[in-house]
Amino acid sequence: MAFPQTRMRRLRASARLRGLVRETELRAGQLVLPLFVSETLQSGSEPVATMPGVERLSLAAAVEQAGEAAALGLAAVMLFGLPAEKDAQGSGAWDEHGVVQLAVRAVKQAVPELLVITDVCLCEYTDHGHCGVLAESHPPRVDNDASVELLARTAVSHARAGADVVAPSDMMDGRVGAIREELDGEGFAETPILAYSAKFASAFYGPFREAADSAPAFGDRRGYQMDPANGREAVREALLDVQEGADMVMVKPALSYGDLIAAVKRATSLPVAAYNVSGEYAMVKAAAAAGYLDERSTVLEILTSLRRAGADTVITYHAKDAARWLAEHT
Ligand code: PBG
Repeated sequence: MAFPQTRMRRLRASARLRGLVRETELRAGQLVLPLFVSETLQSGSEPVATMPGVERLSLAAAVEQAGEAAALGLAAVMLFGLPAEKDAQGSGAWDEHGVVQLAVRAVKQAVPELLVITDVCLCEYTDHGHCGVLAESHPPRVDNDASVELLARTAVSHARAGADVVAPSDMMDGRVGAIREELDGEGFAETPILAYSAKFASAFYGPFREAADSAPAFGDRRGYQMDPANGREAVREALLDVQEGADMVMVKPALSYGDLIAAVKRATSLPVAAYNVSGEYAMVKAAAAAGYLDERSTVLEILTSLRRAGADTVITYHAKDAARWLAEHT
């Protein structure tokens, strides 16, 4: 039946009717807040110029943020570390007393009910800023298999510190399988892996690299991160991570990748996460500050649309604000 028998507007007539037929719910418990913890900050925090409202945190400030996240009902924080020193191998990444390891322990001790997810990568710890170690070649190339070994070591050190979930973001081949094997061998068979499965070489990571001081010193990440033009390959990446033992898969960035969130959701039966990345956050912040967009309704629309596309979990720098807005009842 078509018009006039069918009138789509009937079910849009009131807030109650719209609520009755709403297909997608957004809850604070589905959101993850990324935090940047700096080893050089003894106390307090410092603003990140490219991400208004986001700060680099001392350990104490990170614990405070985690407490707020828990009080707001957020699912988890995702920790990124800024070490005081970097080297060619990125050895700070698996240091038992490294910045992330210390932060995990401090947060779990202060706020045990909050989940702590750790980003597993070398780029914040290498002096060249790449996500793995370099092979001796010209031009320099990231050595996949050597990097995988160090990433697995890093994941175990996070689990040992008390991380609830480890999330490899490096895009080396075979790292999920290697991390699973190493975790199991070291007594962490119960620690889940959230794999950054379809992570694209994206301009939208620009503000993050300023926050985490992780821009590559030469070249770019296109030799390991995915080509934004490739959708079928994203599904293939996700399926490989499933095969290697991932517990959750991720699509990143989120906003211009809704088709792939949906495709990965259809292709696997695993929970799917979407990472609403730094550039996506910065765009909204800049437009809101200029008075071009209403921040609250824009953010809630974005997060709802990522859920609608198929994301069970959304990692977002807007997480605390979103939780507050959701609690106010929209
Ligand atoms: C580390 C990592 C990056 C992001 C998450 N983990 C940066 C990158 O790959 O260059 C990006 C997050 C964001 O932009 O918010 N490899």
